[in-house]
Amino acid sequence: MKVDSILASRTKFMTASEIRELLKWITSDVISFGGGLPDPSTFPVDEISKVVAYVLEAYPQRALQYGSTEGVAELREELAKFVDSYAGIKARPENVFITVGSQEALELLGRVFIDQGDVIITENPTYIAALQAWRVYQPRLIGIPMDEHGMVVEKLEDTIRKLKAEGAKIKFIYTIPTAQNPSGLTMSQERRKYLLEIAEKYDLLIVEDDPYSYFLFEPIQVTPIKTLDRSGRVIYLSTASKIFAPGFRLGWVIADKEILDWFNLAKQSLNLHTSTFAQYVLLEGLRRNIILKNLPRVKELYRRKRDAMLTALETYMPPGVSWTKPSGGMFIWATVPPHIDTRELLVTAITKYKVAFVPGHGFSVDQSLTNAMRLNFTYPTFEQIEEGIRRLAMAIKSA
Ligand SMILES: Cc1ncc(COP(=O)(O)O)c(C=O)c1O
Repeated sequence: MKVDSILASRTKFMTASEIRELLKWITSDVISFGGGLPDPSTFPVDEISKVVAYVLEAYPQRALQYGSTEGVAELREELAKFVDSYAGIKARPENVFITVGSQEALELLGRVFIDQGDVIITENPTYIAALQAWRVYQPRLIGIPMDEHGMVVEKLEDTIRKLKAEGAKIKFIYTIPTAQNPSGLTMSQERRKYLLEIAEKYDLLIVEDDPYSYFLFEPIQVTPIKTLDRSGRVIYLSTASKIFAPGFRLGWVIADKEILDWFNLAKQSLNLHTSTFAQYVLLEGLRRNIILKNLPRVKELYRRKRDAMLTALETYMPPGVSWTKPSGGMFIWATVPPHIDTRELLVTAITKYKVAFVPGHGFSVDQSLTNAMRLNFTYPTFEQIEEGIRRLAMAIKSA
């Protein structure tokens, strides 16, 4: 059957994630800086196995049953306490909504807010899979450049003014302010305040995506933008993926009840609710403080891996290659001379030099970052980091 001929017109905007495409190519002899995987040694396996046994013993009927779309009530209560104690975010349980990872929250944002032609403003570069989720709804994506203090908010206001003058409908500003994916950079506190002021002035929503503030390696004093929000215009996303285990697929949104009611409606037809069993496991994990007990060890490991990659880059890279010094998170963003297209470089890197990365194109709103790449430092071992960067430097020199 010719499936192509019956596809919906929007389906052509579904593009395969370059990261997932890349994973198919990777054989066991390739060192991969491609995915965004946590180091599996950080999973608190023993504690999780005790919690799983306890959940099945203590409340199997509830944990194995269908649940409500917004999530298990006790977990929403526990998360309201967690975001307050960890990040100073004040939320009532009705302001907490459980999702299938933060990725589902990104999809819900598209479903609820984006019409064809609406403007979404993001950092440039930004998280590849957010762009992938939203492209299906055919927005106009506008990228704001970054410097070492995050999104250049000074440029944002100019852009908004121009867009408003054209009559554009701006739906939200998407930011990953702390240890950003893909750059690892963190927005200064002054810029956070300024960003919120602009959003207030032009009456815009901010989507604050925050999977990485748990892994800040530098003593930077920042608070989530959500803590400064007095008018309910910040939708805050976070996830258990990097601090507990991504396999549970658990994330949470903190937002005004009115916004969450629309999310609720959108999620009902998508998957009814997030896995009840996984939610009870996280609930017990939070009650036993597993996450915060584990975090210092994980943070120290990732800081050492970041430093190992920075040292290897310094040692092996030829002149003309530059890279960010991430203040946290899981990634380094590297830039090669403009004549090198990193999509082409990737083919040689994998087939000849046995090393992989994610080309920069997909992280830019207009595919314009052709001479950049994202490098993950959390998943590879220390030996792989050194050897992989050595191989990557050879591939770049050959280009
Ligand atoms: C910025 C950002 N947002 C969202 C996600 C999605 O994470 P998950 O769906 O595992 O919670 C990721 C994962 O890498 C991310 O880096």
